[in-house]
Amino acid sequence: MTGATGTPTRRAVAVGIGHYLPKRVVPNAEFEERIDTSDEWIRARTGIERRHFAAESETTSDLGIAAARAALDDAGLTAADIDAVIVATSTPDLTFPSVATMIQSGLGMSHGFAFDVQAVCAGFIYALSTANAFILSGQAKRVLVIGAETFSRILDWDDRTTCVLFGDGAGALVLEAQEGDGTGADRGILAVDLHSDGQFRDLLYVDGGVSRTQSTGVLKMEGKEVFRHAVEKLAKTAHTALDRAGLGADDVNWIVPHQANLRIISRTAQKMGVGMDRVVVTVQDHGNTSAASIPLALSVGVARGQIKRGDLLVAEAIGGGLAWGAAVLRW
Ligand code: UT7
Repeated sequence: MTGATGTPTRRAVAVGIGHYLPKRVVPNAEFEERIDTSDEWIRARTGIERRHFAAESETTSDLGIAAARAALDDAGLTAADIDAVIVATSTPDLTFPSVATMIQSGLGMSHGFAFDVQAVCAGFIYALSTANAFILSGQAKRVLVIGAETFSRILDWDDRTTCVLFGDGAGALVLEAQEGDGTGADRGILAVDLHSDGQFRDLLYVDGGVSRTQSTGVLKMEGKEVFRHAVEKLAKTAHTALDRAGLGADDVNWIVPHQANLRIISRTAQKMGVGMDRVVVTVQDHGNTSAASIPLALSVGVARGQIKRGDLLVAEAIGGGLAWGAAVLRW
C-alpha cells in the first residue's frame, strides 16, 4: 500500500542524522552500591543495562552541538545551509536563552532562527512536527531538529524508583524541503499526530522551577500510572498517524519508539501487530534519555544498518504533561 494517489507536495525529508553520548558509561551495578536495587531488577522491569552520564563540565547544549555536527557531516552540509534550529529539551543549560540559540552559536551560525520546544519525553515528536510545519509553509528550507538532555541533573539519587531509569545524550536530524508526489511512497514526514492532557500533569513532573520555587527540583514519577497510560495511548497515536498517511501497520519497516521501558516498547509493538524484529531498541544502552531518545535510536538504527533509505518508520513517544504523539516518515 502506498497511500492515496496524490498531487505534487512539499515534504520534509531526512537528509542527515547523528548523535552524541557522553563518555561516562554507568552500568546498573553502580547503583547497587548506593541504593537498595539490583542489576536483575532493573533489567527485568525496564530492559536497561547501562546509561551514559554527562561530565560535570558538559551541558545539554554541548551534547546537542556534538550531535548536530555529526548530523551535518552525515548530510554533507554545513551550518551555513541551515535555516532553523529546533531543540527538544526539558533540561536546558540555563532558564534562558534557549539551548537552540546556544547550539546555533556553537555551530557558528548567526543567521536563521532557533528556539526550544518543551514536551518532555514526547519533545522530539513535537519538534519534528514543528519543523515539518515550517518546511511545508515555506518558512524554512532546511531545519536541524535536535533532542538533547542531561536528565542526570534532575534525578533524586535516593529514589530508586526513578534514578535508575534515565540517562544523558543527544540526537540530531537534518530535514530538507523536497518535492514529493503526495503519496505514501514519498520520502519524508508523511503524517504526525499530537496529544496532551494536562489533567495528568502530576504523574510525571519536576518539583522545582523558576516561578514556583526558584530552584531546579528533582524528577517525580508515578511509574505504574505512566506505564498504564503509555500502553493505552502509544499504539493508538501510531495508528492514527499511519491512517493519516494512508498507510497501515503492515507497511511499517521500523517502529522507532521512545526508549523508556522495554516492556512498554514490546506491548506497543504487539498492540500494533508489529514483531519485535521490526522495532529499533536502544534502551539497554541509553536508558531513558527523554527527548533525545528517538533521534538517538534513529541514529543508532541507521548506524547498525537496520534503517535503510526508503524504509517506512513510525516514531512514538509519551511523557510528562502528559504529552504524547507519533510521526510517520519514510527514510
Ligand atoms: O519517559 C517518560 C515515560 N516514563 C515511562 O514510560 C516510565 C513508565 N513506568 C515504568 O517504566 C515502570 O512503571 C517502572 C520501571 C518505573 C516501575 O516498574 P513496575 O513494574 O511498574 O514496578 P512497581 O512500581 O510496581 O514496583 C514494584 C516493586 C515495588 O516494591 P513493592 O512495593 O512491591 O515491595 C517497588 O518499590 O519494585 C520496587 N522497586 C524497585 N526494586 C528494586 C521500584 N524501583 C526499584 C528498583 N530496584 N530500582
